[in-house]
Amino acid sequence: MDHALRQGVPHLMLSRLLVLAGLLYLASGRQVTKAVREAVMLSCEYNISVNELERVRVYWQKDRQVVLSITSGRTEVWTGYENRTTLDIPNNLSLVILTLRLSDRGTYSCVVQKPEKNGFKLQHLSSVMLSIRADFLVPSITDLGNLSTNIKRILCSTSGGFPKPRLSWLENGEEIDATNTSISQDPLTELFTVSSELDFNMTSNHSFKCLIKYGDTTVSETFSWQKPQQQDGRDNPNNQLSVWMSFLTAVSVFLVIALGALACNRFAPRWRERRRNEARLQIRTIYSEPERQRAEQNV
Ligand SMILES: *[C@@H]1O[C@H](CO)[C@@H](O)[C@H](O)[C@H]1NC(C)=O
Ligand SMILES: *[C@@H]1O[C@H](CO)[C@@H](O)[C@H](O)[C@H]1NC(C)=O
Ligand SMILES: *[C@@H]1O[C@H](CO)[C@@H](O)[C@H](O)[C@H]1NC(C)=O
Ligand SMILES: *[C@@H]1O[C@H](CO)[C@@H](O)[C@H](O)[C@H]1NC(C)=O
Ligand SMILES: *[C@@H]1O[C@H](CO)[C@@H](O)[C@H](O)[C@H]1NC(C)=O
Ligand SMILES: *[C@@H]1O[C@H](CO)[C@@H](O)[C@H](O)[C@H]1NC(C)=O
Ligand SMILES: *[C@@H]1O[C@H](CO)[C@@H](O)[C@H](O)[C@H]1NC(C)=O
Repeated sequence: MDHALRQGVPHLMLSRLLVLAGLLYLASGRQVTKAVREAVMLSCEYNISVNELERVRVYWQKDRQVVLSITSGRTEVWTGYENRTTLDIPNNLSLVILTLRLSDRGTYSCVVQKPEKNGFKLQHLSSVMLSIRADFLVPSITDLGNLSTNIKRILCSTSGGFPKPRLSWLENGEEIDATNTSISQDPLTELFTVSSELDFNMTSNHSFKCLIKYGDTTVSETFSWQKPQQQDGRDNPNNQLSVWMSFLTAVSVFLVIALGALACNRFAPRWRERRRNEARLQIRTIYSEPERQRAEQNV
């Protein structure tokens, strides 16, 4: 165990240890990457016996803040790490953090101090950098409907990622202009939400890719549009024929009605005259009866 002692500088104050920790980190370059809500185990790379644990001080700290400490055999978890942080003592004094948050990212240092006559001296120091990744969900593309006869609007959106994303629309590998792109960040979780609208002309086939880049990762979704068959119906000869057919039918019906009306107008007066003549004839016949009787009496 004494190998660590010889390389350390005795009687260093905690603040100066932190500077040293930073330098050591640069030298060793240990790095761990985890995703939000995952758990991590950061090794102190220092084995300790139960007997030794009674006498030493162990500090796990992030940047300038203490995360967890063991002094006089008593473990203490500091603000922001309560209920999700423990020390795996037999396993190289590993710091275990459950349900990682984005704010947990940073450089963690493990300091082991041994008692001496004038206080404590550095026994062991190691550092590890923790990166937190937050992956965007695969973006979803939704249809926002027709803006006009030929123009449709679609929306691409995703959330839950970090760091700040860049969204682009591609067609045939070339970037095209979006209507509205907005990026927002949840102040509490620090996670980003991104969305963007795209308008396109429905009169031709399309294949659009919505691409989101964050850090050195990308996610994307593709939207395909096939020009509908009915779309060009007005240019379709079959369709034109049926339009002509209905037009002709309408014209024929109109003509029949019009001719009928005309015929009525033309023949009605003659018919009325004939009716009148018939009526007159009847009246004459009725009134001719007494005349005939009178004539018979006169005979
Ligand atoms: C630490 O202790 C464990 C269990 O006693 C042992 O398996 C491991 O090899 C030790 N590691 C070092 C570096 O001493
Ligand atoms: C940790 O757990 C204890 C007991 O369940 C609870 O009283 C306390 O509020 C918790 N602290 C945090 C920061 O969640
Ligand atoms: C403790 O650390 C040493 C050195 O890094 C490693 O060889 C050993 O496997 C570790 N022990 C455990 C239990 O992880
Ligand atoms: C939008 O336009 C397409 C193509 O013209 C058509 O098929 C679809 O029915 C239209 N949708 C609405 C809601 O008008
Ligand atoms: C799109 O931009 C317009 C202004 O150009 C704005 O009024 C509208 O709210 C934006 N829509 C979205 C979904 O961001
Ligand atoms: C859509 O495309 C058609 C055919 O290329 C064209 O006639 C029309 O003007 C376009 N509409 C718009 C709004 O660009
Ligand atoms: C559009 O896509 C459909 C289906 O893939 C295909 O039949 C049609 O020929 C395409 N039209 C053009 C103009 O490329």
